[in-house]
Parts: sequence; structure tokens; C-alpha cells
Amino acid sequence: MAVYNILILFLLLLFFSLSTAQPSADEQKLLLTIKQDWDNPDPLSSWSSTGNWTGVICSNTGQVTGLSLPSLHIARPIPASVCSLKNLKYLDLSYNNLTGDFPTVLYGCSALEYLDLSNNQLSGRLPDGIDMLSSGMQHLNLSSNAFVGDVPSAIGRFSKLKSLVLDTNNFNGNYPGAAIGGLVELETLTLAYNPFKPGPVPKEFGNLTKLTYLWLSRMNITGTIPDDLSSLTELTLLDLSQNKMQGQIPEWVLKLKKLEILYLFASNFSGEIGPNITALNLQELDLSMNKLSGSIPEDIANLKKLRLLFLYYNQLTGPIPAGVGVMPNLTDIRLFDNKLFGPLPSELGKHSELGNFEVSNNNLSGELPDTLCFNKKLYDIVVFNNNFSGVFPANLGDCDTLNNIMAYNNHFTGDFPKKIWSFAMLTNIMIGDNNFTGTLPSEVSFNISRIEMGNNRFSGALPLAAVGLKSFTAENNQLSGELPDDMSRLNNLTELNLAGNRLSGSIPPSIQSLTRLTSLNLSSNQISGEIPAALGLIGLNMLDLSDNELTGDIPQEFNNLHLNVLNLSSNQLSGEVPGSLQNGAYDRSFLSNHGLCATVNMNLNLPACPYEGHNKLSMSLIIVFSVLAGVVFIGAVAIWLLILRHQKRRQDLTVWKMTPFRTLDFSECDVLGNLREENVIGSGGSGKVYRIHIGGKGSAGKVVAVKRLWRTPAKSDAKSDKEFDAEVRILGEARHNNIVNLLCCISSDDAKLLVYEYMENGSLDSSSSSGAANWNMRTGRGVSREFFLFTEIIFTCGWIYRLRR
Ligand SMILES: *[C@@H]1O[C@H](CO)[C@@H](O)[C@H](O)[C@H]1NC(C)=O
Ligand SMILES: *[C@@H]1O[C@H](CO)[C@@H](O)[C@H](O)[C@H]1NC(C)=O
Ligand SMILES: *[C@@H]1O[C@H](CO)[C@@H](O)[C@H](O)[C@H]1NC(C)=O
Ligand SMILES: *[C@@H]1O[C@H](CO)[C@@H](O)[C@H](O)[C@H]1NC(C)=O
Ligand SMILES: *[C@@H]1O[C@H](CO)[C@@H](O)[C@H](O)[C@H]1NC(C)=O
Ligand SMILES: *[C@@H]1O[C@H](CO)[C@@H](O)[C@H](O)[C@H]1NC(C)=O
Ligand SMILES: *[C@@H]1O[C@H](CO)[C@@H](O)[C@H](O)[C@H]1NC(C)=O
Ligand SMILES: *[C@@H]1O[C@H](CO)[C@@H](O)[C@H](O)[C@H]1NC(C)=O
Ligand SMILES: *[C@@H]1O[C@H](CO)[C@@H](O)[C@H](O)[C@H]1NC(C)=O
Ligand SMILES: *[C@@H]1O[C@H](CO)[C@@H](O)[C@H](O)[C@H]1NC(C)=O
Ligand SMILES: *[C@@H]1O[C@H](CO)[C@@H](O)[C@H](O)[C@H]1NC(C)=O
Ligand SMILES: *[C@@H]1O[C@H](CO)[C@@H](O)[C@H](O)[C@H]1NC(C)=O
Repeated sequence: MAVYNILILFLLLLFFSLSTAQPSADEQKLLLTIKQDWDNPDPLSSWSSTGNWTGVICSNTGQVTGLSLPSLHIARPIPASVCSLKNLKYLDLSYNNLTGDFPTVLYGCSALEYLDLSNNQLSGRLPDGIDMLSSGMQHLNLSSNAFVGDVPSAIGRFSKLKSLVLDTNNFNGNYPGAAIGGLVELETLTLAYNPFKPGPVPKEFGNLTKLTYLWLSRMNITGTIPDDLSSLTELTLLDLSQNKMQGQIPEWVLKLKKLEILYLFASNFSGEIGPNITALNLQELDLSMNKLSGSIPEDIANLKKLRLLFLYYNQLTGPIPAGVGVMPNLTDIRLFDNKLFGPLPSELGKHSELGNFEVSNNNLSGELPDTLCFNKKLYDIVVFNNNFSGVFPANLGDCDTLNNIMAYNNHFTGDFPKKIWSFAMLTNIMIGDNNFTGTLPSEVSFNISRIEMGNNRFSGALPLAAVGLKSFTAENNQLSGELPDDMSRLNNLTELNLAGNRLSGSIPPSIQSLTRLTSLNLSSNQISGEIPAALGLIGLNMLDLSDNELTGDIPQEFNNLHLNVLNLSSNQLSGEVPGSLQNGAYDRSFLSNHGLCATVNMNLNLPACPYEGHNKLSMSLIIVFSVLAGVVFIGAVAIWLLILRHQKRRQDLTVWKMTPFRTLDFSECDVLGNLREENVIGSGGSGKVYRIHIGGKGSAGKVVAVKRLWRTPAKSDAKSDKEFDAEVRILGEARHNNIVNLLCCISSDDAKLLVYEYMENGSLDSSSSSGAANWNMRTGRGVSREFFLFTEIIFTCGWIYRLRR
């Protein structure tokens, strides 16, 4: 090791002295010619006989041996005169703007050993005669360009090649496995991220016994991991992820002594892990998204250097080995979506700087260890949908590094540590469906944007301020007191659900400051007083005030609202329902209010409003009016019958218009034919949701979710139709992790159907196979995928959907 360090130091010194040497007069002339041939690019402006020679590397004798010109936005083609530098060994033009074909002018550089053209926009096929490059080539890096076609077998003639870096291109043909397998000096080989023709890992790669770095992910590899590779004992990185391989992970893989990084995720491996793991240098182990079964082997705990342990989306069962709790370097644990059971390792977090902890969707039980945040690094606790019980460790109240807490649907009890609500880094708290007790502080941390704490036993008053809060759901708790008098410090709320609590007092007019609010549910409380007119002035789509003690009129301002859900039933409201709410879509909205009445629409389960002036009229006038009314009634009935007939005819002729947002393999008939009651999976005031299997025959078909919106309440005029269409179009074209794919919109005069890709229990199965999830495995490391998946999805057009059922 020491010798190695000294060698590096020596090389650095050598490089330093070389790079400061000046080119000889002859070489300076050549450099100036090159600069001119290259169209005098700005970055080379310092090149002049008196100035400095940026990027030029010279030998002691003044000969140019290298040009190091990365990241200079050079866009003009490389001039042939570059090769007039007869001693040019090293050429780095990475991260420029080179375009066009592979620069064959470099064939003239007969001393070239190192060529880095990576991260440009070179395209086309690699020339079959690429071996006309210097035969002394040791490092060839063409990564991150746009080359297509085959990798020519001539590449196998560079017998001195130590690194061959071809990843991240568009090679869509074949690569010469046998030829590459002959490059026995190779230490680095990358072919990853190319859409090659499917095929197995070439057995000949087993001859590359000096390989330390083998990156073969996402290149359509099929078949199993060949045992021939077991001779690659120098490997520090082995990445076969995101292919279509099968079979077990061979035992020798987990015995590679020098291996530091092993990525085999999303490749369809099956069988058990291990049994014996002796790759003691492993730092990152990612076997997630396969079909691994059996339990996590105990001796995984021997991996003292392991930092990442990713085994999520498999079928692993059994407990998490107790030894995992004492692994010294473990910072990121992702075991979600397996069938693990039993308690967590007792000292988890005590012996390592645990930052990310995700074990959701398992059958784990027992308490959370109170050591999780022992080293004050924890930012993510994702433990939802398990069988955890006991209290939330009180010392998490001192864990102010926390950013995300998802603990819903367990059996936690006791006080939720109150200090947590003030953590500056915290953005997300989802702890619903437990038995937590406790109270909320008067001011919630400004960074928290989502609180879901429904179905617990929280008590006390509502917070007065939560400036960053967008979604606050706390239904079915024991919260009491009044809504804050001044609601302006909650002004970022889009959703507020406080149903089923013990709130009293009236709705303050300051609710008008919640200008972003689209959904408000205060049902089943003890709220009294009148409904403030202000509620009609914000853009609500959903309003539920049912089962309270509200009195007075429904404000005329409600005529402005475009509500998908409205429930004012079981109150003591009175007076006439505002005209635009007298719509059949709201026939369940006003039940059990003894004083409400209607005049326009009599199908609302409401009595007719009394004619106010009648006692001032004489009997005769009443009779005249009665007769007139009778005539009008008969006429109306006749017209009504006519309309009904007309409508019936129209319904038969209803024209459905489909607007697709993806290429679809079904038609509107497939959807419409299946809108049957037995397919309903949910319904609410805004409409019904159907789960529809399209394609019929067996499992070959596709499952979609269809949301049928009730007829838009307000007059469905051409203008609002246009707005709707525009909004839906935005949704349909949005491609974002947080948005379930909207496939198409089907509409007629009477109804709107939104057709979504269906996700069974929020599973990614459908989307990961189609690649639509677009979740970048590499850059996505820091982001919890569960967070995306189970977070409520707030659509831009204002409807609020929940992906979780
Ligand atoms: C040489 O020129 C480059 C770019 O023109 C500049 O960034 C660098 O600081 C200069 N070096 C010296 C030693 O003047
Ligand atoms: C070079 O590419 C970068 C990024 O691709 C771009 O921003 C820049 O404008 C390009 N410059 C030239 C000179 O083409
Ligand atoms: C290209 O590959 C060479 C050899 O492996 C490596 O040293 C160099 O850093 C790579 N270039 C870039 C920009 O990553
Ligand atoms: C190979 O993989 C790419 C994606 O990386 C895919 O688009 C292409 O269709 C695949 N080719 C075959 C034949 O499977
Ligand atoms: C390379 O591998 C192949 C197949 O694995 C084998 O037949 C051949 O003998 C090996 N060649 C060398 C030079 O080791
Ligand atoms: C995964 O592997 C199994 C065999 O273990 C095979 O039946 C299945 O078709 C493979 N799935 C994919 C998507 O390749
Ligand atoms: C593998 O582990 C099992 C039990 O853990 C042990 O009995 C067996 O000897 C080990 N095999 C090897 C090859 O180390
Ligand atoms: C592993 O942990 C030990 C002790 O905590 C530490 O000294 C060492 O640097 C860590 N190694 C790595 C690779 O993180
Ligand atoms: C958890 O265990 C229960 C019974 O013990 C079982 O019914 C359930 O399917 C398990 N859940 C998962 C996700 O494995
Ligand atoms: C949850 O854990 C308790 C013990 O803590 C156990 O009795 C119960 O069966 C578990 N439930 C499920 C569904 O596994
Ligand atoms: C909460 O406690 C009650 C009574 O002890 C129990 O019936 C209920 O199942 C518990 N809920 C949860 C989610 O653990
Ligand atoms: C909340 O609203 C205020 C304006 O009242 C705004 O300045 C602030 O950026 C918002 N915060 C978030 C997280 O959206």
C-alpha cells in the first residue's frame, strides 16, 4: 500500500513538473496552427507565443505529450493537425460540444494511449476500422455520446487496453463478446445503458482476470450469471442491474473478496441470498426489485463495511438478523415490500450513523428501538403498514435531523413526541391509523407541508400557525377548541380534514385567507353559527360541513363554487338553497336540515319554499294563481315528458369523444361497455371509480381505473367544457413520478370519464415494467420511492385523489 502511495505521489509530481514545462518553439508553432485550424476557440485564446498554454502537457524537452481540454464548450470538429504533435499520448476532450461521427482524424496520432471523448454529442456508428487508432491505446472512453449500431470487433485489437468505457450511448446492435474477452489487460469495462440486442453475458469475459470495474447494467442481458465470471477475483464493482436475467445469484458472487459494490437490482433474479457471505469488503449491496425468497442470511452482519443494504421489493421472509443492529457502517437500510416479520434488531442505529430507514409493507412487530437516532443522523423513518406497537421512542423528540416520518397503519400508542412538530428539516408526517395520543403545538415548523394523523387519539387545540402546511388531515381524533380566529398563518393549505373531532365555535370569516384551499372537511364536529360568505369566495372543489350545528342561510356566494363534493346535511340550516346548487348532482347534500327549501329544482329531497307574499293576497287572487299554476303544471308535465323522451333518444345517440394521451390499445367502447356496478371500487360525491379489465381474455389484458365525474354542476356550457379539457390535457401530458398516468379522457355532453393506469395497491409492477415510472435508479438514491408512491396525489386541476385506496 505504501509503495502504491509513493508511486502516485511520484506520478503527481512528474505530472506537475511536466505540465508547467513550456512547449519548445517548434511545438508552439504547431499548437498555434492547431488553434487556427480549430477556428480559434475562445478557451484556447491564451495560447500564444508569449501567453500561457492552458491544457498543454509537455515533457522536459518541450515536446507536447498531452492535451487536457475538458469542459471548454469546444464545438468545432477536431482538426487533423492535432496529430502533427508526434508525441501526443494523452487527449482529453470530454464534456465539450463535439458532434458528428467518430473523429477518424485521430488515426494519425500514432503515439496516442489515452483518448477521452466522453460526454459529447458524437453519433453514428463506430468505424469498423477503429483499430487504425494507435495500437498502443490503453484507455478509450466514449461514454455518454450517441453512438449507434454495433461495437466493431476491431476493438479487440487494442491488446494493451486497460479501460474500455462505452456506456451510455445508443448502441442497438451487438458487441463482440469474444473479442472484448481477449483484451486481457482490461481493468475497467463498461457497456451499461445501451439498448443492445438481447443476449447473455459473454463467457469470454471470464478471461478478463484483471478487471476491477465491470458495469453491465441496463443493456438487455438475458440468461444467468455465468460461473465463468467467478475468475474475476479482482472485481471491486459488479453491476448487472436492470437487465432481464434469471436464476439464482451464484454463491461465488458473495465471496468475491475485493468486491465493494454489488448492484443486481431489477434483474429478475430468484432463489435465496447466500447462504455464506464472505465478500467482506462490500460497501453497497443492492439486490432490490428481484424475486428473491428465503430469509436474510445471518452472516450479512459480518459485512462490517456495508453502508447500503437494499433488498426492497422481493419476497424475503423471516426476521431481520439481529446482527444487522451492530453493523458499524450501515447508513441506509431499505427492506420495504417484503414479507419480513418479527422485531427490529435491538440496538439498531446505535452502532452506525443510520440516516435512512425504510421497512414499510412488511409484517414487522414489536417496538421501534430507541437507538434509531443515537448518532443524530437519521432523516427518514418509513415503517408504515407493519404491525409495530408500543410508544414512539421519546428520544426521537431530539432527532432534529428528521425529514420524513411515515408510520401510518401500525399499532403505536402513547404520546407522539411533541418536539417533533418543531423540527426545522421535517417536511412530512404521516402517522394515521395508530393509537397515538398527544397534542399539537401552537406553531408547527414552517417546513412541514404534509400532516396525516387521522384515526388516532390526539387531543387539544389546533395549531395557530403552520405556514408551509399544504395538506392537513386529522380526522377522527379528539381535537377540541375552535378554528383559529386568524387563519392567515395557515394560508398554504390546499386540503384540510378535521372531520370527527370535537371542534366547536364558528367558522371564522378569516377562512377567506386560505386562497389555495380546494378541499375542506369539518363534518361531525360541534361547529355552530352561520356559514361565512367567505367560504364561497375560495376555489373549493370539495366541502363537507355535515353533522354540525350550523344555522342560518347558505350564502349566495356559494353560487360561485364548482363543487365536486358538497355535504351540508345534518345541520340546522334554513332558507332557500342558492340557485346553482339546486342541481340533481347535489341531491344528497342537504338532507336533515329542517329549514332548507328549493324553488328551481324539486328533485333535491327538499320542500318547496313558501311563497313569501301570500298572506297579503286576497283569496280570489290565490284561486286565480292556483288555476294558473294548475295550467302551468299540466303544461310543464307535458313539456317534461317531451324532454324526457328527447333525452332518452339523445342518450341512445350519445356521442362519446375520446381524447388519448398515450398510444392506447383499447377504444372507448372497451371502457364504456364495462362501466358496471360490480366494477365499482369506490364512490364519493365527485363520482364513481371503476376498476376495469380491458381485453377480456385471461390475464393478457390491461387494468385501468376509470373515474366517472358526475355531470358538472354548473351549467355545462362550452366555456367551462373548454376549461375542463385544457386542465385534463395538462394532466394527461404531465409525466411526473407523483402523478398516476392519465391515459385518456372520454366525454359526452352528460359525463366525463378519466381513465388512469391502474396500480394495484400502489404497486409499481405495471409501471416499472413499462419504464413509465421513470425513476432514475442512480440519481434517485436519496429519494424515498415509497414517499412518491404513497403520498397523496394532488392534481393540478383541483380534484384530490388518493393513490392509497
Ligand atoms: C492561463 O489561461 C487560463 C485561461 O485563459 C486561465 O484560466 C489561467 O488562470 C491562466 N494561467 C496563468 C498561470 O496565467
Ligand atoms: C454546449 O452544450 C451545452 C450543454 O449541452 C450548451 O449549454 C451550450 O450552449 C453548448 N455550446 C455550444 C457552443 O454549442
Ligand atoms: C473516461 O475513462 C477513463 C478511463 O477509465 C477515466 O480515467 C476518465 O475519468 C473517464 N472520463 C470521464 C469524464 O469520466
Ligand atoms: C433493449 O433495451 C432497451 C431499453 O434499454 C429497449 O428500449 C429495447 O427495446 C430493448 N431491446 C430489446 C430487443 O429488448
Ligand atoms: C477465454 O475464454 C474462453 C471461454 O470461456 C476459453 O475457451 C478460452 O480458452 C479463454 N482464452 C484464454 C486466452 O484464456
Ligand atoms: C423472470 O424469471 C422467471 C423465471 O425465474 C421467468 O419465468 C419470467 O418470465 C421472468 N420475468 C421477466 C419479466 O423476465
Ligand atoms: C456455509 O454456512 C453454513 C452454515 O452457516 C455452514 O454449515 C457451511 O459450512 C458453510 N459453507 C461454506 C462453504 O462455508
Ligand atoms: C466504517 O466504520 C468505521 C468505524 O465507524 C470507520 O472508521 C470507517 O471509516 C468506516 N468505513 C467506511 C468505508 O465508511
Ligand atoms: C402478515 O401476516 C399475516 C398473518 O400473520 C398475513 O395474513 C399477512 O398476509 C402478512 N402480510 C404480509 C404483507 O406478508
Ligand atoms: C401483530 O403482532 C402481535 C404481537 O405483537 C401478534 O399477536 C399479531 O398476530 C400480529 N398481527 C399480524 C397480522 O401479524
Ligand atoms: C387502538 O386501541 C383500541 C382500543 O384499545 C383498539 O381497539 C384498536 O384496535 C387500536 N387501534 C390500532 C390501530 O391499533
Ligand atoms: C406559504 O405562503 C407564503 C405567502 O403567504 C409564501 O411566502 C411561502 O413561500 C409559502 N410557503 C410554502 C412552503 O409554499
